[in-house]
Amino acid sequence: MTTFDTSVTEQLPAVPVSAFKPAALVAESVNAWFGTHHVLADVDLTMAAGEVTALIGPSGCGKSTFLRTLNRMHELVPGSSLSGRILLDGEDIYDPARRPIESRRRIGMVFQKANPFPTMSLYDNVVAGMKLTGRKITKAETDALVEHSLRSAGLWEEVKNRLEAPGSSLSGGQQQRLCIARALAVRPDVLLMDEPCSALDPTSTRRVEETIRAIAGEVTVVIVTHNMQQARRVSDHCAFFLAAQGQPGHIVEQGRTEDIFERPRDARTEDYVNGRFG
Ligand SMILES: Nc1ncnc2c1ncn2[C@@H]1O[C@H](COP(=O)(O)OP(=O)(O)O)[C@@H](O)[C@H]1O
Ligand SMILES: [Mg+2]
Repeated sequence: MTTFDTSVTEQLPAVPVSAFKPAALVAESVNAWFGTHHVLADVDLTMAAGEVTALIGPSGCGKSTFLRTLNRMHELVPGSSLSGRILLDGEDIYDPARRPIESRRRIGMVFQKANPFPTMSLYDNVVAGMKLTGRKITKAETDALVEHSLRSAGLWEEVKNRLEAPGSSLSGGQQQRLCIARALAVRPDVLLMDEPCSALDPTSTRRVEETIRAIAGEVTVVIVTHNMQQARRVSDHCAFFLAAQGQPGHIVEQGRTEDIFERPRDARTEDYVNGRFG
């Protein structure tokens, strides 16, 4: 078990703009704790390159915690610890020789509530994360990156004539797509999304879902969702998490999304995907 030092701040080397490919992410025997509270037990999950993996299960079963172990955000909580390995294209992101910030660059995150910088322009919002990585690129390259990221996020046509407008001028669904564009502009290999549509109306939700399907070829996606229709529509692979009373969360069943929904092997999976609990 490792307890992390959260006091270290680090610099990141420049990364070439051409770095851009989905990577496989493999979790091996992941256990996670908050203090002495054991919240995740023995999670094994392969998130295939260029696919969408959905994490489903009732609230409190450790889905968000698991997602945060995947890009070293779990360790930002004081007193947290974990065991097991997370392999990004075969390399352990917890290898002591690797810096957490490098893993967070390669494995991006989009949150439940869209969090654009409200007074910053749309253009600057898209490049904000990329700038933090310390990468130096020309104005022309930046323009191209902004357009590419906004196109991938399905937002370009809506905003191309007002890139100087502030982030707050967008609707909720557009703001979430802006956050996806911002995450993509860092050119991650993997994008983690924690209930990215839970604050959105159905129309915006569908737009974000289309975006997720569209980016899946460029980036490996891992999404937590409470919405079973959404898991079914967007994911290729699905993992069902459950925590029994007083027990850590674990994966009850995982497989191709169609199998999880049409032919679940475990009665608890069947009950959950059919809305009988959770
Ligand atoms: N920052 C934290 N500090 C202490 N306990 C936490 C923290 N975040 C989550 N937990 C606990 O970890 C367990 C799993 O939570 P979480 O990963 O958020 O579940 P889910 O995303 O499936 O709803 C819960 O018992 C929750 O109370
Ligand atoms: Mg959660």
